[in-house]
Parts: sequence; structure tokens; C-alpha cells
Amino acid sequence: MHLSEDFPEDLPAGLPKAELHLHIEGTLEPESAFALAARNGVELPYADAEELREAYRFGDLQSFLDLYYALMAVLRTADDFTELADAYLARAAAQGVRHAEIFFDPQAHTARGVPVGTVIEGLAGALDRSEERHGVTTQLIMCFLRDRPAESAMETLDAAKPCLHHIVGIGLDSAEAGHPPAAFREVYAEAEALGLRKVAHAGEEGPPSYIREALDVLGVERVDHGLRAMEDPELVERLVRERVPLTVCPLSNVRLRAVDALADHPLKAMMEAGLLVTVNSDDPAYFGGYAGDNFRAVREALGLDDHHLRELARNSFRAAFLDHDEARRARYLAEVDAHTSGRAGGPSR
Ligand code: ADE
Ligand code: ZN
Repeated sequence: MHLSEDFPEDLPAGLPKAELHLHIEGTLEPESAFALAARNGVELPYADAEELREAYRFGDLQSFLDLYYALMAVLRTADDFTELADAYLARAAAQGVRHAEIFFDPQAHTARGVPVGTVIEGLAGALDRSEERHGVTTQLIMCFLRDRPAESAMETLDAAKPCLHHIVGIGLDSAEAGHPPAAFREVYAEAEALGLRKVAHAGEEGPPSYIREALDVLGVERVDHGLRAMEDPELVERLVRERVPLTVCPLSNVRLRAVDALADHPLKAMMEAGLLVTVNSDDPAYFGGYAGDNFRAVREALGLDDHHLRELARNSFRAAFLDHDEARRARYLAEVDAHTSGRAGGPSR
């Protein structure tokens, strides 16, 4: 008997899913930040974890990023990164995540004197054991900060070359408005030549033209967020036609005020327009929920039925970088079907 039949409200958490938009630094829970600060002799400007959590009231993306980068000061050693990633993977597994493609921000660490190799080897220490320990397969995606010069991104890519066997692809994140994708054309071309996959944040706070630019100039295969595509019907038509996955993060969009309330979120409209959307948690320690929590929240706020949830779970595996192991993708899709058998929907495609 499936858990979901006994406890229908647990379908979203138990549903097998891939998480494709998750910043590992955004999984730093306040209690862990204080533990790491004590261990590493870092002074935090908050009395305790409660007071830190109180500060998580963001007016926009930048106000979040300011706190997010400041709190990373507690991450210093390879072990710190291993612990951070291991804690995330345990939480993700408990919410049905079977495969995670994890972002990290090397420049946010190298700027503080932590070498990129320390970050990558530290993360790999958790990721390499994840399937065995948590039943979650993983990939690592290295993101560049778009509010820093493209030369810094290129230097970071160069510095990471000895560790590229741990990395499946590159991404682009940080403050979007005023930082269009095209500046990173050469970095993306170099990454492609190195055999890396390509994604970028676009259309979170930036206009639909940034999404076009990410596709046309950077050649991205998935768009992270992509919300503002909905302002541009021709772009929506293209994204549908080309089956470009959009990694949507509903709780993040509310907390960073990209949408006023979850009930106003365009996720359902995006699905109904035929877009290949997935649901993800972005920075779950800051935005009030992990992957299953995001599924549950949109089900309630948007009235999604089991068919929608199943389609979102299927989309997550369809959009995953699992091309090297299609048999695994097929197994994950079959797990979605098995979990929801007897509920709405037909076989996976
Ligand atoms: N870095 C971490 N979370 C982010 C987000 N939601 N947008 C842009 N950059 C980020
Ligand atoms: Zn993000």
C-alpha cells in the first residue's frame, strides 16, 4: 500500500521528484550557521538562531542576497561544505527527492579566501556518498555571479579545471536586474567546449528579453525561474515548442516578492500553457520550505490536483541531466507512476 493512499495529504512530500534548482548555500539553517560560527570563530551580528530567522523578511532579491552572502562567512573548511550538503541531502530525501542537481557559488567563497578546490572537494565528499546514504543521486552545477565581471567568471572556471570531473554544468545567478546574460557569452562558450551543460537564472526579476538572451546568446538548456516569460506570448510559444524546462521556485517567488501571494503564482497557468515546468526550493532555509513543502504549498494555494502533481514530478525527471543514464531516468519515471498508481493520469512519456 502506498503512503499516499493512507495519508493523501502526504502525496506531495512522498512523491518521487528531482530537485533542479537548489543553491547549497541556501540550505544553511540558522542553527547550523551558529554551530559553524562557533567552530570557526566567526562573529555573527545576531544574538541567536531565532533572531537570525527574524531577519528573514525580504523586500526583494537584493535584500535576500545581502544576508545570504554575509552568512556564508561561517563556511570555511571542506568539512563545513560536506556537512552542509549532507544535511541538505538528508532533508531532501525525507521529502521525496531522488535526484538533485545542486548549485553552488564559488565566487562567494573565493572572494573570502576559500579556494574553489576546497568548496568542490568538500561538496563532493557528501555528494559521492549520497546515493548510498540517502538514496539520492546528485550532480553539481557551478554558478557564476552575474553582478561581478565576466572576467571573474572566466578566472573561476579556469581555477575549477582540476575539479571539473565533479561538475555537470554551469549556471548564472545573483542580482538579475541590470545584469543581462550576454556579458557571459565567452564563459558559456568555453564551458560548452569543456563539455559542460548550461543553465541560467532568467526572468526572475529581469524582463523576458533576458530569457531570450540566455537561450540565444548563452545557449542554455534550462531556464531557472523563467516566470516573466508569461508576459511575452511569443516567448511562451517558443519555450513550449522547444520544450525548454523552467525550474520554478514558488515559495522563493513569494518571499522575494516576485509574486504578491502564492495564490497569484502563475505556475498553474504555465502548466496549462504547455510549458515544461518543475517545482523546486531555491534557498529552502530562507524561504520556508524544501522540495516537498513547495509541492504541498502550490497544491493548496493553486488547487492543483493529483494529475498536476504527477506531471510536475515527471517533468523534473524529464528535465534532469540524466542523458548519460537513460535507464535511470526511466526507473525514476516508473517510480512516479508506481507512487501515483490508481490516481489520476496516464503512463509516463
Ligand atoms: N542566489 C541564490 N538564490 C538566488 C535567486 N533566487 N536568484 C538569484 N540568485 C540567487
Ligand atoms: Zn536560484
